[in-house]
Amino acid sequence: MSLFRTAVAAILPLALAGVALAQDPTLAATPPMGWNSWNHFAGRVNDADVRAAADAIVSSGMRDAGYIYVNIDDTWQGERDAQGFIQPNSKFPDMKALADYVHSKGLKLGIYSGPGPKTCAGFAGSYGHEEQDAQTYAKWGIDYLKYDLCSYAQIMRQQAPHDRQKQMEMMKDAYAKMHQALLATGRPIVFSLCQYGWDDVWTWGTSVGGNLWRTTDDINDTYERMADIGFNQLGLAQYAGPGHWNDPDMLEVGNGGMSDDEYKTHMSLWSILAAPLLAGNDLSKMTPETLAILTNKEVIAVDQDPLGKQGDRAFAVGLTEIWTKPLSGGALAAGLFNRDTEAHSVTLKLKDIGFSNHAKLRDLWTHQDVTASDGSYTVTVPPHGVVMLKVSR
Ligand code: GLA
Repeated sequence: MSLFRTAVAAILPLALAGVALAQDPTLAATPPMGWNSWNHFAGRVNDADVRAAADAIVSSGMRDAGYIYVNIDDTWQGERDAQGFIQPNSKFPDMKALADYVHSKGLKLGIYSGPGPKTCAGFAGSYGHEEQDAQTYAKWGIDYLKYDLCSYAQIMRQQAPHDRQKQMEMMKDAYAKMHQALLATGRPIVFSLCQYGWDDVWTWGTSVGGNLWRTTDDINDTYERMADIGFNQLGLAQYAGPGHWNDPDMLEVGNGGMSDDEYKTHMSLWSILAAPLLAGNDLSKMTPETLAILTNKEVIAVDQDPLGKQGDRAFAVGLTEIWTKPLSGGALAAGLFNRDTEAHSVTLKLKDIGFSNHAKLRDLWTHQDVTASDGSYTVTVPPHGVVMLKVSR
């Protein structure tokens, strides 16, 4: 018997007996990077858009910068066939062919569903069809599933009226159920929980198989919403690590609602948070500035640092905040953020972050080494902007 068949033969009876299967430890070892259709295309996304995104990820250099997942969000679903297997709708004529195309570019394909009968946009969800859907995704060659609570919240309320605790148990069970269905396919599929952070998902997301979990309601393309989400991720660092990440939602970089300084803040803050970096813009029509922000390799290296530690706020003075993230090799990333509408000078004192006066400083947006004097570094940070430093010994 081949090694694979031996493994399957060993695992299958356990799966059928409902024994929890183990997750692939290499899945999401660093925060997932890629693209998702929702923020720009929403319900209009189709096969051609996804292929164009895959093409652009490669030609723009984004794939080589680490953006690997091409994720279709809501509105791809059609009807179920007579046996109950889900079919894509007319916007996606052949999902297997699309997956083959995406894979041929060295990329991976993600898809979207939810535990309820309907998704948030009113398309078919996986309720009562979890195993079938997981099998279908595996058959198509899907590598990532975003599983969005949506209408399951109504099922929870109907089945356990006024019993919040029971509702939360039902929610966890629904996620665990799909996780087991995914594992039983034998295909490594990143499992992304989307239930808006309810019931402190960061404390139990791993136990239901989540590789990442949304910590908030939806982002939109405004500085106010992005900053409100990003700067409120305080205290969640301890829950993130290789294979399991906090997800403050997808990127809006390049969608047009913020200035480049604001988008640099978005990219820097998400990297310090070790957040998934899922671009949400139209990759086939990017300005050079957008591309430069998305592919800043020194900032991406902070997000993707193999230590896998999420950062947190270290200091706040008025509307300026310094956030730090431990990096491998004893280094530290420091984001000097200015949330005000006018420029402010911000000072980073090396001893306050555990470094000596001899620490090496590098500005990750200007790509230049900079120097502290008398153990501190003072810099003017533009309105809604950031100066991002790497501090090493
Ligand atoms: C919810 C999610 C979004 C997106 C939409 C799709 O609002 O939070 O990220 O997936 O559903 O309908």
